[in-house]
Amino acid sequence: MVRFSAPGKVFLFGEHAVVYGKKAVACAIDLRTTVEITRSGKGIHIQSAFKDDPDKNQYIKTAIKKFQVRHDVSDINIKVTSQIPVASGLGSSAAVTVATIAALNEEYQAGMTRDEIAFMGYQTELEVQGAASPTDTFVSTMGGTVIVPDKRKLPPITCGVVVGHTGISKSTSRMVSRVRTLKGKYPEVIDGIMDCIGNMSARGEALVLKNDYKSIGELMNVNQGLLDAIGVNIPELSLQIHAARSHGAYGAKITGAGGGGCMVAICDPSRCKDIANAIGRSFGDSFITKPTAEGVRRE
Ligand code: PMV
Repeated sequence: MVRFSAPGKVFLFGEHAVVYGKKAVACAIDLRTTVEITRSGKGIHIQSAFKDDPDKNQYIKTAIKKFQVRHDVSDINIKVTSQIPVASGLGSSAAVTVATIAALNEEYQAGMTRDEIAFMGYQTELEVQGAASPTDTFVSTMGGTVIVPDKRKLPPITCGVVVGHTGISKSTSRMVSRVRTLKGKYPEVIDGIMDCIGNMSARGEALVLKNDYKSIGELMNVNQGLLDAIGVNIPELSLQIHAARSHGAYGAKITGAGGGGCMVAICDPSRCKDIANAIGRSFGDSFITKPTAEGVRRE
């Protein structure tokens, strides 16, 4: 039996722009999805934690199909447990995909490197979703703070991180295609917004290295304005974002595709509780989380 877990993530900067090759900065968080593989029975059986999201099995099945190019897979049981809320922009699909590939790699001694696991994870997401950037799968494999498409890894950020969850389910592919339509209609306007978001991510990398969380927060607020401009904000996320800001967050914005899902605030660690409570009073749920340096790992 082998058991591997992989973390979820938040975007500090760059969602949507990263789909067009611009830079993004994402940070692994201490919520994990665990995949256990045992060899038994006949055929491939999946026992998933994502009962309310049957589509999730598609990631596992596609990951197995990709892995089968390297090694024959048959007669296994796969058991998934997860702490990451689904369809929320926190990277649950990438985490289950990456943990599945890493567990298969170990079970069949396929000798894949981390980079190869991240790449196979990306190929899997691409096939299942039709559109995906390598962000989620890369950060879930490597942990820490990552810059994509450059694929550099920085240490985890050391400020407080609070997540607001609207509980409104969103579809990444629908939001990506909505932005693509807008960009197709007004390229001379939207292309500039994407460039500007990419520039914020580049500046964000330097600020992460300096631990300058005030400035990171300030730029996250600017990034939020541009996410609003490209039509992926909703009133419920705005309520949470403004509650976080008015209770002392350095910055707050959507994390992920938007249209529902989650927002992220960064703050001084002493402010986390107040901010989490304020978000919860404004709409939906909230929780305090921690950045993690650990990507996919054996349990
Ligand atoms: O909501 P999530 O975690 O699926 O993130 C989507 C981020 C996008 O940039 C909109 C798409 C992508 O694949 O990077």
